[in-house]
Amino acid sequence: MDLQKLLREMTVDEKLAQMTQLVPQIITDKGEGAVTGPMRNFGITKKVTSRIGSVLGISGAKKLKDLQDFHLAEDPHKIPLLFMADVIHGYRTIYPVPLGIGASFDEELAEKCSAMAAKEASVGGIHVTFAPMTDLVRDARWGRCMETTGEDPYLNSKMAQAMVRGFQGDLGKDNIAACVKHFAAYGACDGGRDYDAVEMGDHTLREYYLPAYKAAVDAGVELLMTSFNTLNGIPSSANKYLVNDILRKEWGFDGIVISDFNAFYEMISHGICENEKECAEKALNATSDIEMMSTCFVKFGKALLEEGKISEEQIDNAVMRILKLKEKLGLFDNAYRAASEEDEQKIHLCPEYRELARIAAEKSAVLLENNGVLPFRKDVKKIAIIGPVADHGMTGGWYCCGKSSEAISVIQGIKNAIPNAEIAFARGCSAEPNEKAEDVIEQIFEAKRIAQDSDIVILCLGEEIDMSGEAHSRARISVSDSQTRLIKEVCEVNKNTAVVFYCGRPLALEKIKDVAPATIIFWHPGTEGGNALANLLFGNVNFQAKLPMSFPYEGQSPYCYNHLRTGRPSTNGGYCLGYRDNPYEPVYPFGFGLSYTTFDISSPTLSSEELTEEGEIVVSVTVKNTGKCEGIETVQLYIQDVTASIARPVKELKGYQKVTLAPGEEKVVTFKITVEKLKFHTFEGKFEAEKGKFKVFVGNRSDIESFEVFRLI
Ligand code: GLC
Repeated sequence: MDLQKLLREMTVDEKLAQMTQLVPQIITDKGEGAVTGPMRNFGITKKVTSRIGSVLGISGAKKLKDLQDFHLAEDPHKIPLLFMADVIHGYRTIYPVPLGIGASFDEELAEKCSAMAAKEASVGGIHVTFAPMTDLVRDARWGRCMETTGEDPYLNSKMAQAMVRGFQGDLGKDNIAACVKHFAAYGACDGGRDYDAVEMGDHTLREYYLPAYKAAVDAGVELLMTSFNTLNGIPSSANKYLVNDILRKEWGFDGIVISDFNAFYEMISHGICENEKECAEKALNATSDIEMMSTCFVKFGKALLEEGKISEEQIDNAVMRILKLKEKLGLFDNAYRAASEEDEQKIHLCPEYRELARIAAEKSAVLLENNGVLPFRKDVKKIAIIGPVADHGMTGGWYCCGKSSEAISVIQGIKNAIPNAEIAFARGCSAEPNEKAEDVIEQIFEAKRIAQDSDIVILCLGEEIDMSGEAHSRARISVSDSQTRLIKEVCEVNKNTAVVFYCGRPLALEKIKDVAPATIIFWHPGTEGGNALANLLFGNVNFQAKLPMSFPYEGQSPYCYNHLRTGRPSTNGGYCLGYRDNPYEPVYPFGFGLSYTTFDISSPTLSSEELTEEGEIVVSVTVKNTGKCEGIETVQLYIQDVTASIARPVKELKGYQKVTLAPGEEKVVTFKITVEKLKFHTFEGKFEAEKGKFKVFVGNRSDIESFEVFRLI
């Protein structure tokens, strides 16, 4: 296709329409689709809607073929529509929410799951996913923790690259284009309140919040979505510093920049635009290419052009990026691309994909406590399954085309694994966070009776899938009064109890930490959750995941393990960092997770105590399985820059490796430290390493204290 010729043949109005993305309801009177933001009457004509460039929120081979036919019949240039959707953690076969995938510390798993999602979405007619979402987050109150891979820039970067590889592959028919989001620093919203303002210095932005977006760009992501929030007073939709200077010029990103839902129009609410015309001007001058679910471009772009406030070149550049992606995806050759009802039937929820979803759920589950009660014996006769989230499938938010009815509940999973056991179920309470125990005390005591009368108890609590996600921030993250009481009553009468928390964010677990014999973080596990949990509880598989976010006390957010040092560390006593009424450290630290076996990790040995600019230091530890069953340990490398031109974190994750060991087996695990791992944004604003002393920590959690020292000379 001669794209330059096509561009020349398009009128300005047609170009501006090509830069517009709407839900199908606005294009066809019988349109249907997921609406993920405020709907408005845009007052645009069919002449515009028949020429738009892309559609979001609808999926399904038949529907999208029909919509493509409907569009092509109307579009004078026969430019195929791009179909985009939120394929965040699966399309029809749903795997754990990304926070759970982050907990796996397994990039290969992240890539495989993304590739599976891409294949299912592609045959479902989708061309682009609005993923990976790689906003770094330190505040457990934010509803969208579930969509991220956590609080660490290194882990988030590795995961973002794996997901881009998985979704995009070679952009063949099994793949879809990926869109990294939300640029930038959306996870740092004040108070963890979704959409609230973000204020931070350039050093913090570049050192912690930008790396994972950059990693996605370096991995070749095709699109990037700007975020709703203001950064230091400027909405990302119009933030020339973020988009023009950093993204386009510094990073060389020439892919498509798309707004978030209605975000251009919302600059009026932000108070930086008086009207939609100004929104269009500011967004265009911040090199945005596609306007999602608002119509500032098509309404005012031409006038801005005639007034010389924007140039035709800016519009042409935007349209050319869109046309190039359509060409890359082969849409000009085949507007249906891989959409196929037959393949949908064959591929969606196929056994291979269900197995991968189950493995992902098994690898994402974090074991926080276990006094030996787990794994349960398989010859158990009477099982009590209690809790409000045990009797239905728990896909998690952003479940795309996934269905709870197609997801395995805990009850079903346990029945599948232990078919001869007698299972008794009781809800015990709800997932409502403000529910009082006295209001459901009969339910609690009914559950207690069942627990007393059973050999083992599986207590499934935490959050329903709609309690986290967009626009679902919570001021309090504690386990509710009713759930806390239920745990205490059940554990009082049956010591063979495992408490399983479903959640899309860290929860404040201090009230139950010393009550439950075993505690598991299962996130929202997806289609195969029940089967995965059964395998974990009965020891068919072992736990291996680690926390990708610190689990704080109530009131401690925001918190992160890689916090800066201060002049008065929390260990000073008296005049020191922290609270008078609360420990400074979290309830459970980043990087923490137990196994059914135990591991010993030796102190690190360094191949040298000095590192040169061109050299490397090899750090070695011996990891031994000191327990009675095979296990996988995630060995983590942290580094502290002891003295620098700007305050540096107490430690930073700089590497991790998973090692599988049989009982008694030991292996040497090595990490290579080069100057690359020591670079940071210095006081002078350069990205480089500074000579001096560094501490090296190696272990299986972030709060390890022993270290070795080397110097960069
Ligand atoms: C939503 C979300 C964004 C999503 C988009 C399209 O508001 O912020 O993550 O991709 O709209 O659904």
